[in-house]
Amino acid sequence: MKATNLFYRDPALYDAVQADSDAAGTCQALIDQHRPDAATLVDFGCGTGRDLEILAKRFECVGVDLQERMVAHARRARPGLDIRTGDMRAYRLGRRVDAVTCLGNSLAYVHDNNAVQDVFATFAAHARPGAVLVLCSPVSPITQTEPATATVETSDTRATVTVHYEWDLRTQINTMHRLWTFESGHEARDVIRRRVLFPRELEHYAAGGGFEVVDMVDESGPGTLTGPTAYTVARYRS
Ligand SMILES: C[S@@+](CC[C@H](N)C(=O)[O-])C[C@H]1O[C@@H](n2cnc3c(N)ncnc32)[C@H](O)[C@@H]1O
Repeated sequence: MKATNLFYRDPALYDAVQADSDAAGTCQALIDQHRPDAATLVDFGCGTGRDLEILAKRFECVGVDLQERMVAHARRARPGLDIRTGDMRAYRLGRRVDAVTCLGNSLAYVHDNNAVQDVFATFAAHARPGAVLVLCSPVSPITQTEPATATVETSDTRATVTVHYEWDLRTQINTMHRLWTFESGHEARDVIRRRVLFPRELEHYAAGGGFEVVDMVDESGPGTLTGPTAYTVARYRS
């Protein structure tokens, strides 16, 4: 995974590019709406811990991520957080919480149907009865194939990013190809493969794990670097 996504090779760049994201705020508002007494939270696919840092002001939090490099960066950048290395297809913390989250499209990196089921089993294994699950994931593909260009600016660097997509209807994998041209003239390419789970599929997988979807909030906007995503909110029934 780190070989393909530039952000995973350079987690600090990821943090800088995502600095304006309000995913944690949206997530917290949804938890407040659906489980206002929530006090404990596990975030799967927490990456650099940028959302967890904000959520940890309100909840007792644990973050879990697959990639050692992301976890190492998160621990260095945010030493107060409890971040573990683990695969959400199988990870067991051994404790249940009031809120389970999986933000920033982390679920989309799980491509196979059985593996998606395993992830929902992991969510269930960490949910108290009545717990809330908040997912942020792509719910429809980007099918346009013409390249689009955007500028990415951080305090350290400026880059032009040219993006084009492929959509494989059968596997529901949206492949994003990026060409980064930094102001130094240095170029880098990366390829990101994300599985789209349509809303009804999310309901199906959630139900298989014992969750009932209670809300879906469209975050769509034809972003150049990311596709249409939605927040799915589900309640753990058993
Ligand atoms: C785009 S990043 C999002 C990170 C964070 N949630 C955010 O919004 O900033 C996706 C993250 O999912 C993690 N990931 C992918 N597959 C995973 C798995 N099977 N188990 C745990 N983490 C996974 C990756 O390592 C990566 O850090």
